[in-house]
Amino acid sequence: MGKTDLVIRAATSRDAQAISPLIADLGYPATPAETTARLDRVLGTPGHRVLVAESHDKKIIGWVHVFGAVRVESDPFAELGGLVVAKKFRGCGAGTRLVNAAGTWASVNGFSKLRIRSRTERSGAHAFFESLGFAFFKNQKIFERPTKENS
Ligand SMILES: CC(C)(COP(=O)(O)OP(=O)(O)OC[C@H]1O[C@@H](n2cnc3c(N)ncnc32)[C@H](O)[C@@H]1OP(=O)(O)O)[C@@H](O)C(=O)NCCC(=O)NCCS
Repeated sequence: MGKTDLVIRAATSRDAQAISPLIADLGYPATPAETTARLDRVLGTPGHRVLVAESHDKKIIGWVHVFGAVRVESDPFAELGGLVVAKKFRGCGAGTRLVNAAGTWASVNGFSKLRIRSRTERSGAHAFFESLGFAFFKNQKIFERPTKENS
C-alpha cells in the first residue's frame, strides 16, 4: 500500500466494528459492543478526538485517540490515549500519518505539547515515537483501585 493511498479522517460511531479487532491487536481484547460503547463515550466527550486511517478500499487499518489533558500543577498538554495500526499494514507510514494528524488537532486546539505513555516493553513503539521527534521524558508507576474503598 502506498503512503498516499490512505485517508485520515475523524472516526464516527459506525467505525466501532472495524476498530474493535485493532484494539485486540494492542493486547486488550474487546467485543464490538464494548468498543461501540467506549467509542461513543469518547466521541461525546469535549476535548477528545479519534481519527482513523482508511485505505482506498474503505478498510480501516489504524486509529488514534488524542485528548487535551489539563492539570493544576502544569500547563495543559495533549496526550495520545491509544494508537494502533493493523499488523499487516505496519511500516507503510499509517502510524506516522495518524500521529501527525493528532498533533495537528492538538496544535489547532491550543496545546503546545503532545505526550504518549507507553509500556516499558514496547521498544518498537519507542523507536517509532523517537523517529517522530518525541523525546523520553519520565518513567512512572501506575496504581489503581475501585472508586469505593473495600468494594
Ligand atoms: C507503533 C505503530 C503504531 C507504528 O505504526 P506504523 O504504521 O508501523 O509506523 P510507520 O510506518 O509510520 O513508521 C514510521 C517509522 O517509525 C519507525 N518504526 C515503526 N515501527 C517500528 C518498530 N517496531 N521498531 C523500530 N522502528 C519502528 C521506523 O523508523 C519507521 O520508519 P521507516 O519508514 O523508515 O521504517 C505500530 O507498530 C503499532 O500499531 N504497534 C502496536 C501498537 C503499539 O505499540 N502502539 C503504541 C502504544 S504506546
